[in-house]
Amino acid sequence: MSQQLRIILIMLSIIIIFAFFVHLTTKTIAPEKMDSGMISFDMSRPRAPSESRKVKNPILVSTTVIKEGKEAYLGKGGCATCHGKTGRGDGEGGVLLSPPPRDLTDANFHLLRTDGEMFWSIKHGVEGTGMFKYVPRMLSEEEAWKVIHYIRTLKREHVSGSG
Ligand code: HEC
Repeated sequence: MSQQLRIILIMLSIIIIFAFFVHLTTKTIAPEKMDSGMISFDMSRPRAPSESRKVKNPILVSTTVIKEGKEAYLGKGGCATCHGKTGRGDGEGGVLLSPPPRDLTDANFHLLRTDGEMFWSIKHGVEGTGMFKYVPRMLSEEEAWKVIHYIRTLKREHVSGSG
């Protein structure tokens, strides 16, 4: 065997050993990514920081306030584009979103979220989803609180089922 060939063989084996070592020490990140994607569909996980749970709706509810909230939801807020005219999460703007727009009529959703948490999501958006920030761009804080009073009226009585 020539001297040159021997050197090439030694170098090749060093490269192979090095590559194998790198392979052993590199962690795959795929499972973590899949996990966070799944979690974003799980409504039971809070979207807002825990302090926001305690924040109370500063606006007293009345039929006028609910009417104003509905107008903002359907109109300048643009919420119906994704959440649908009846709040079922079936607006044409949301069909391609993953996770999908929240079904605001879902009784579980109403149980899980306080007004303060909803307000936080409307003001700050939900990171990594199609729910963007709408205060103050589309709605004032006052209007957002009124929209929340309106959202509360959308709650369906049954916890599950499609009726
Ligand atoms: C571009 C589409 C889109 C628009 C417009 C939109 N939303 Fe959303 N919204 C979403 C999506 C997607 C989610 C689900 C996010 C998630 O699963 O965390 C969501 C979630 C929510 C939630 C639940 C947040 C939580 O804490 O679980 C509320 C409340 C909400 N939207 C209210 C509104 C209001 C009010 C408006 C109008 C000012 C609005 N959304 C406009 C897409 C939209």
